[in-house]
Amino acid sequence: MKVAVLGAGGMGGTVIDHLEHTEGVEEIIAQDIREERVKELREKVGVKAYVELEPILKDDSIPLVFITSSNDAHKPLTLAALEAGKAVMCEKPMAVTLADARAMVEAAESREAFLQIGFELRYSKLYTKVKDWVDQGLLGQVVNTHCYYICSEFHHKGSWRNKQATGGSMFGEKLSHYVDLPRWWIGSEVADVSSVCAPNVIPYYEVHDNYHTTYRFQNGAVSHLTFMMAPGATFKGDPLQDVIDQQRGDGHALRYLVVGTQGCAETDVFYRTIKRWEFGDSPECLTSTWVENLTWDKSEDHVYFHNTLDQTRDIVRRVREGLPPATPASDAYETMRLCFAAEESADHGERINLAEVY
Ligand SMILES: NC(=O)c1ccc[n+]([C@@H]2O[C@H](COP(=O)([O-])OP(=O)(O)OC[C@H]3O[C@@H](n4cnc5c(N)ncnc54)[C@H](O)[C@@H]3O)[C@@H](O)[C@H]2O)c1
Repeated sequence: MKVAVLGAGGMGGTVIDHLEHTEGVEEIIAQDIREERVKELREKVGVKAYVELEPILKDDSIPLVFITSSNDAHKPLTLAALEAGKAVMCEKPMAVTLADARAMVEAAESREAFLQIGFELRYSKLYTKVKDWVDQGLLGQVVNTHCYYICSEFHHKGSWRNKQATGGSMFGEKLSHYVDLPRWWIGSEVADVSSVCAPNVIPYYEVHDNYHTTYRFQNGAVSHLTFMMAPGATFKGDPLQDVIDQQRGDGHALRYLVVGTQGCAETDVFYRTIKRWEFGDSPECLTSTWVENLTWDKSEDHVYFHNTLDQTRDIVRRVREGLPPATPASDAYETMRLCFAAEESADHGERINLAEVY
């Protein structure tokens, strides 16, 4: 099968590499609006590449496109590809406005076309382990989740990510994954969201650089997200220096605590751990017993964290076999609704009732 990658910058390069190692992919064609990148794709990456979109849209022998452009181009590229009869995988966040995301879902649904959004943490061994524990009933009903995510400013001045028109918000760009996961684990829809932001630390950002956001689910569960772009939480001399080196000094910290009525789980990406506790009864108190402690080798980081390789392979397989997306675009849209509601709450200082968000 021929596969095209539209907007082939950093993430596009990763997807091209994955496609080169995916069964059933016979040819990769790339497209990017930057001429120097197209030259690089041809000469260094070694794929057929175009500045124009038309040759790909007109080529009926290309059934599948991956859209890995900056966020502002997700909607026009998705609509054009669907219109041309292609199956589409589009990176998260779906779009820079909720109305655009809605238009993408409607375009796919009206054609009964394949559209999957890049929430690849649902392929991560780390987070699917939590999902397995939830599904097996080992945590009971999940009632609280807390995500603690700290990173340094690794986007840099002038990046499209820092501007509202091209990136949307930092909530969609960075945090949509971490709204999608609690939805997946808790298995209920959100009733309302409240979000506050402190003044920015990064003066040249046009968007918020921090959030403290709380979601209340219809089943009573509460999910909290703390995000700050700040000096790194890790430092030289850390015993996990190899992990830090891998992150090129970004200084990430990324932990989840998932608390259920019968047990809880904790994930820590940069310490490569996933732990589970079981709750029990004793004459004195509720007991908590540490029953599982999983770690993984650094060579498996990609499988445990951003597993874009297995996502790419799964999407190719699904399209080849005529199967629907692993998660429908309408489900990704629900996650996007939560992102836009959190942003609106932060901007207006009000709790947002999700029933009132389009
Ligand atoms: N799922 C993840 O964890 C993850 C990780 C990184 C990036 N992403 C997403 O991938 C996308 C790309 O991010 P990146 O880091 O590769 O950015 P990037 O800036 O490296 O690449 C984006 C590319 O899109 C091109 N582009 C912009 N408008 C275009 C258009 N209209 N047509 C064709 N090409 C166009 C740019 O020239 C650039 O080469 C973003 O949506 C980002 O959120 C997702």
